[in-house]
Amino acid sequence: SDDELHARIERAKATLGDRVVVLGHFYQRDEVVRHADFLGDSFQLANAALTKPDAEAIVFCGVHFMAETADILARDDQRVILPNLAAGCSMADMADIDSVEAAWAELTAVYGTAPDADGRVPVIPVTYMNSAADLKAFCGRNGGIVCTSSNAATVLEWAFERGQRVLFFPDQHLGRNTAKAMGISTDRMPMWNPRKALGGNDEQTLLDAQVVLWHGFCSVHRRFTVEQIEQARREDPGVQVIVHPECPMAVVDAADAAGSTDLIRRTVAAATEPTSFAIGTEINMVNRLAAEYPQHRITCLDPVVCPCSTMYRIHPGYLAWVLEALVRGEVLNEITVPTDVQADARVALERMLAAKP
Ligand code: 13P
Ligand code: SF4
Repeated sequence: SDDELHARIERAKATLGDRVVVLGHFYQRDEVVRHADFLGDSFQLANAALTKPDAEAIVFCGVHFMAETADILARDDQRVILPNLAAGCSMADMADIDSVEAAWAELTAVYGTAPDADGRVPVIPVTYMNSAADLKAFCGRNGGIVCTSSNAATVLEWAFERGQRVLFFPDQHLGRNTAKAMGISTDRMPMWNPRKALGGNDEQTLLDAQVVLWHGFCSVHRRFTVEQIEQARREDPGVQVIVHPECPMAVVDAADAAGSTDLIRRTVAAATEPTSFAIGTEINMVNRLAAEYPQHRITCLDPVVCPCSTMYRIHPGYLAWVLEALVRGEVLNEITVPTDVQADARVALERMLAAKP
């Protein structure tokens, strides 16, 4: 039964004590969240992986790229465990190293390698945290950096101090929304389609570009629409609409605020008067906020509900399984990033961690 499962997880955690730390992303289901020692957005979880030097094992209740990041940042002898290896991210899968290297070769052929009068190189690669470790390593090797949804503007500023342009992957929406908020015209943000020569652009468009956007997107967040926002406002003219920046640009523009999962949580937590919120992000998180803050009216913008199916693959049964194995001294479902990839990826992640918050 569910109660037995929870009791098994609690027993295993009590036996392991400080030898294990369980990290959980905000999108995890409640039955998993209740066992997390630390709950956060992807930036906070990357930091949390660094703050538990005593733990022999980090059990990551999130998706594959998050566990890889923990492995890159954690001490070499710390083991990182993903309770279900099938918990991937469809957006992260939309950029692979071969396509990005091919794009880079074409772009550098157009741009050359000579810096401008301010010493800025022609183009800097920026990868969203939601990407495979080898793409983070690519950024580390090529003067680039990683960003999350909570620091994308800071990271783009970092990149424009060092480069004339940015190649941003995999999420077109986060790239476009962030660059637009910085005052960059969408006319100067061509999309890169990896199946076409020059990504489907002419040379002049690429030369004029400020941000070249990869074609990736999140299948959960692209479901949100301007019509849903209008409907929410018709139902309650005082509603506050907050969305994640992985939503399409028109949705972010129509919302009252956009930001990372932690910004959404903090906005709700900071409301002192009973408020109506319509939120455009994953349903497990929205439902949890609604339960935690009953003084507010909190609904999901999408009436059909929108779970992240891969986050949902972390079931408490898998958590019990990996924790009980640890009690027996067995490490199951370990995520190990190859050493050479780790070294380069760490460079790009450390640039992000050092960029001002
Ligand atoms: P956050 O960085 O806002 O937690 O988002 C992670 C994610 O995967 C959103 O889809
Ligand atoms: Fe990936 Fe979207 Fe799920 Fe986030 S919500 S983990 S971007 S599929």
